[in-house]
Parts: sequence; structure tokens; C-alpha cells
Amino acid sequence: MSHDSDSGHDPDSGHDPDASAAGRKAMPASGTDWDTLREQMVDLGKGDVDWRAARTAVYVFNAGEDVLRVAKEAYALYQSENGLGPAAFPSLARMEREVIEMGLDLLQAPDGACGNMTSGGTESIFMAVKACREQARAGGRDTRGMRIVVPRSAHPAFDKAARTLDLEVQRVPVAEDWRADVQAMGEAVDDQTLMLVGSAPCFPYGLIDPIDALSDLALARDVWLHVDACVGGYFAPFARMNGVDVPPFDFELPGVRSISADLHKYGYAAKGASTVFHRTEEQREFQIFRFDDWPSGGMETPTAAGTRPGGAIAGAWAVMHYLGVEGYREKVKMVTDTREKLMRAIDAMPELQTVGSPKLGLFLYGSDQIDPYAVWGRLLKRGWFTGLVSEPRAIHLMLSPAHADVADSYLADLAEAVSEVKTSGEDAAGTRARYA
Ligand SMILES: Cc1ncc(COP(=O)(O)O)c(C=O)c1O
Repeated sequence: MSHDSDSGHDPDSGHDPDASAAGRKAMPASGTDWDTLREQMVDLGKGDVDWRAARTAVYVFNAGEDVLRVAKEAYALYQSENGLGPAAFPSLARMEREVIEMGLDLLQAPDGACGNMTSGGTESIFMAVKACREQARAGGRDTRGMRIVVPRSAHPAFDKAARTLDLEVQRVPVAEDWRADVQAMGEAVDDQTLMLVGSAPCFPYGLIDPIDALSDLALARDVWLHVDACVGGYFAPFARMNGVDVPPFDFELPGVRSISADLHKYGYAAKGASTVFHRTEEQREFQIFRFDDWPSGGMETPTAAGTRPGGAIAGAWAVMHYLGVEGYREKVKMVTDTREKLMRAIDAMPELQTVGSPKLGLFLYGSDQIDPYAVWGRLLKRGWFTGLVSEPRAIHLMLSPAHADVADSYLADLAEAVSEVKTSGEDAAGTRARYA
């Protein structure tokens, strides 16, 4: 799914005037005016996917020009300010505090719950795992090699955190309905289990794991349960307000100790904005880094980052206030209506079937007659950049509000692609699902 991008000159020109003797890009000897650079940069993007025309259903969340403008202008207003120094920038400290309070409210957190903004889902997950590990260490455990038990569909950010923190991840196969198999996860729990994880929803299938049963399991076995709501944290609460039957997944469940929820996904904030929440301040304490043994004095940071971009905090704060509950509910409805329309049309095509019963903005579809990867390839040629899943072999769509306007043209291209693949009998044996 990813594409390699070149960092500098036009690869077709054959000659880069800024190349050094070693053949690598050297810094230009003198500067270039912004108008020229801007033009060059717009040109550079011409080979990118056309997400502005809503032909991309991965990596980008497009809630429309007005929301993009708010995020961009708010980011620019605070782009030089630094969240590392809350004493210098009480503005950012206040905006972060308010973002966190709004998130806690949406996720039904009890009094005393707290959190922080981070750079993204991966950092939020990292901080939750780190806090959990530090708590275990403070209780006298040697945590080396202890395990995080996750459904097979959980995001690799848990593996990234585990590799850094000297832990291991045990991926437990999902149940027949593609959601976490809680019984099997329960069987995997032993005294070396540090953390349990459920997703709301998971990325591969767009399905919410049975978090209520995981919460019971976590309480019964006294294990920290983290809910990865990176995708659903700022979507599912509004879907529920719209009448969608969203199962319990947040702090309403007493076994849930921490939640990650990304603002730069369905919160429509500028990239670099996520939230990590803890049930108690005592838990969050284990996330914090403190240091005082160098010449510049004490340092206390709540997350992995040092400098924290003021723009990312300001952009999230601004979009949350710009949309409000009403605005988010409207955007969520556009997404769920479009998903339902696409799923209905796809299930009506004899060659295709959707997978599972997603309730939010992601879904996938496969086929028992033709190779879905070949269909995906035909759609890619028509400019539709979407994901692939390997288990089962399927096409993956993560929808944005902007997709409401292109659903019909996607379906028309899909019908053509299916008919071409049927006629040619083609399979795409060389195509592999690739997340990043
Ligand atoms: C369920 C889930 N968790 C975590 C992440 C990681 O988020 P990020 O890419 O912001 O680090 C993603 C990213 O898509 C995700 O889908």
C-alpha cells in the first residue's frame, strides 16, 4: 500500500544541480524564493494519491475543506510554540487540558481519570504499555519477557512497544466472527501476562472486540486491560449518539485501565495528535519521565517526546470546538450511511461478499469466485487507493465523510473491475497486502 517517495530532485531529469560529489543531495548554495519552492512542492505531490478527490480510503481522513482549513490555520497559529514548556505556554497547557477533558467525557471516564496528548496512536500505545510495565516493576516484578496478550488483529504498535521495553507479545487467533477470542485469550493469561488488549475497532476488520468480556477477564485475573480506540475513540461515541448499537468499549467497563484514541484519525485534527487516557492519576504517574542530573536542571515530560508541536495541540483543540458534538455526529452519519450503502451494493453483487458486521467507518469485502486482489489492482489503475487484508483475502476501506460524494462512482468502477477480472480469470498472485 505504501509507495516509495524520493526526497529531492526530479528522478526523470537525469541531472540534479544540487548533487554533491558523492552523488547525494547537497544543500543548495543559496536560497530559493518561496513562490518557486511552493510551485516545486505542489509539483512533487502530483504523483501522490488523489485524497482531495476522496479516491483514497487509507492514511487520510477527509472531513471537507472547511475542517481542513480550521486545522491548518490553528496549526499555523501555534506552529512555533512548544508543548515542552507549559510554563512558557499556558495557552498550550490549557488547550491540552481541555482536549483531554473532552476526550475523558466522551469515553465515560470516572472522576480522577486523566491523560495526555501524544504524537499519534503508536506513541499513545507505547505510553500505556510503559506505564503498565513501570507499575509492575514498582510492585517488585522483573518484567523482562513478560507478555502482552492481544488478538491477532491488534495493531503492530504493541509489538513496537514490546520490543523497546523488553516485553513480548502473544497474538491469539481471532474467533470465527473475526473478533477477539476471549476464551482463548483467557487461556493464554498466566503469571507472566503483563497486559491484555482489545481494539475498538481493530484496523484489519473494523470490528469492535468483545471488550465487556475482556473487562471481566481482566478483573478476574487482575491484569491491566488497554483498549486501543485509536480508530474508534472519536467516532464510536458519536455513532452511539446517532442510534448505532455500539457495544460497551470504554471506561464504562470497570476492567478498562487505559485507552488510546487518535485525534488525527476520526477527530479530523492535523497529523501528530492523539490521546492516551488512564483510569487513575496513580497509573499515569508511571508514564512520566523525570530527570535532574545534568546542567540544565529538572525535566519532566509526560510522553515519549521532548519538544511537542504546539500546532498539533492547537489544531486538535480548534477542530473539536469547530465541529462540536453536532458536527461530529453529522460527519459520523455521513460515514456510516456511506458504509451501509457500499456494503449493501457490494453484497448485492453475486461475486462479492462483505466480511463481519462492522458498525463504524471501516469494512472489507472479498470473493469466493474471483481474486479480490485482482479487482483491487483494477481499481488502483482507476485511481482508487485502498487497503488489502490477507486473512481473509479482501479489499479494505476506511471511509471518510468525503467518500459520500464518490460512492456511486466507486461502485460503477467496481462493477467494471469485477466484470474484467471475471472475463480474464486473472489472479494477482504477486500482490501482497502491505500496511505501510
Ligand atoms: C487500531 C489502530 N491502532 C493504532 C494505530 C497506530 O496509529 P498511528 O499510525 O497514529 O501511530 C492505528 C493506525 O492506523 C490503528 O488503526
